[in-house]
Amino acid sequence: MAQVDEHAHEPAVTRRDFLYVATGAAGGIATAAAVWPLINQMNPSADVQALASIQVDVSAVEEGSQLTVKFLGKPVFIRRRTPEDISAARETPMGQLPDTLARNANKPADAPATDENRSMDEAGIWLLMTGVCTHLGCVPIGEAGDYDGWFCPCHGSHYDTAGRIRKGPAPENLHIPVASFVSDTVIQLG
Ligand code: FES
Repeated sequence: MAQVDEHAHEPAVTRRDFLYVATGAAGGIATAAAVWPLINQMNPSADVQALASIQVDVSAVEEGSQLTVKFLGKPVFIRRRTPEDISAARETPMGQLPDTLARNANKPADAPATDENRSMDEAGIWLLMTGVCTHLGCVPIGEAGDYDGWFCPCHGSHYDTAGRIRKGPAPENLHIPVASFVSDTVIQLG
């Protein structure tokens, strides 16, 4: 009889455990759902703002090379351009640019896509851009493509040495996020 009683109780115990776990999980989801709008309302908190800004030492970046850092989940290209890169970009007539806007968060929204409006310094040595193709979001390859700038192999978008779209399906120049030099060798992003 004892054996029969044990077996009779096991399923009941198991069911109670299951119900307990299920209730606990539902409670957890409800709590998360209640907390999330609260966090949203508080955005951007001081903590979030601190995370939304990083400093990058570019002193080791050699001429003709590129440093890629991850910022807010996206790659950011920081390129130290050669004199040839700069002159190729600055000598390009605006009429040859499919997208005539600078797409530079540090400039007015209607700033034209001159190389001067896209590079970080007056001499045009530093170019910093979000490394996300403006077509469907792939990461373009540096020093590649028909314009020796960046090439996105996903669907064949060619960007020039100023990161401006020149050929292919991408509709816009590579975007430039908020960034500035805080010393001779340190760039702050955000
Ligand atoms: S995602 Fe770059 S060309 Fe389509």
